[in-house]
Amino acid sequence: MKVYIITGASKGIGKSTAIKLSHDNPGDLYIILARDLSKLIETKKLMHVDSNVITKPIDLSDSDKVIKLIRSIGDEYGRIDYLINVAGYVNPKSLLETTVENWEMTFKVNILSVFVLTREAVRFMKKTGGKILNVASTAGLSSRPGWSAYSSSKAALISFSKTMSDELEEYGIKSYVVSPGRCATDLRKQLAPEEDPTTIMQPEEVADVISNLMGENGNNLDGQNIIIRKQL
Ligand SMILES: NC(=O)c1ccc[n+]([C@@H]2O[C@H](COP(=O)([O-])OP(=O)(O)OC[C@H]3O[C@@H](n4cnc5c(N)ncnc54)[C@H](OP(=O)(O)O)[C@@H]3O)[C@@H](O)[C@H]2O)c1
Repeated sequence: MKVYIITGASKGIGKSTAIKLSHDNPGDLYIILARDLSKLIETKKLMHVDSNVITKPIDLSDSDKVIKLIRSIGDEYGRIDYLINVAGYVNPKSLLETTVENWEMTFKVNILSVFVLTREAVRFMKKTGGKILNVASTAGLSSRPGWSAYSSSKAALISFSKTMSDELEEYGIKSYVVSPGRCATDLRKQLAPEEDPTTIMQPEEVADVISNLMGENGNNLDGQNIIIRKQL
């Protein structure tokens, strides 16, 4: 039985990813994380009935809690095979309106937590090999006026993921980074409130790509930033 940890599983892309992976790989153990327990329970109800699903509410901006949680998961189950970092935070503001707290929270959730989760999970994953996938953004690749904290954090995540791909190769751990474009979720609504969500990519489409990468199809693709965009 393989052990998956999926962050951001209460809604959007993380929820769709948890559902898709559980249907593609029933019988495995899925530990799904986010702050909102009631929404995690909704996700669990939609996952494959033969999958073992454990909901763990946690605020990823609290590094000490993240460290404790991952160590307890590793100690209890003895292995961590897949770490899928989907959670993300944005509070778009112009430079002059961006507070230090906004910048700190954006970086805590979007990159610091990924570093902590990765470091702690690798302590266990290095025994068996495994896969780590980070959800960055096309915003990390080009200018986004008004979203400087978010886009900078995603650029950092792309860089971190590529470094992990090289650094963790010796343990048989693959590190992936995907950068979705516009996708119909609550986070996107904050960035583009006027946009019609039916005209853009759906979270299930991103989840399909992630599930593919976690399977054998992804074995030769780690280390590069994979852009996922709806072809209009
Ligand atoms: N939607 C897009 O257009 C788009 C494009 C490119 C990249 N992305 C990336 O895709 C990822 C998923 O976002 P989404 O679009 O699916 O947005 P979403 O529906 O708003 O989901 C965001 C997820 O992150 C979790 N999260 C946020 N802050 C957290 C915290 N402090 N602790 C724990 N969990 C936290 C949320 O859970 P709780 O609120 O329950 O804690 C939720 O599950 C993000 O990394 C985002 O940057 C999205």
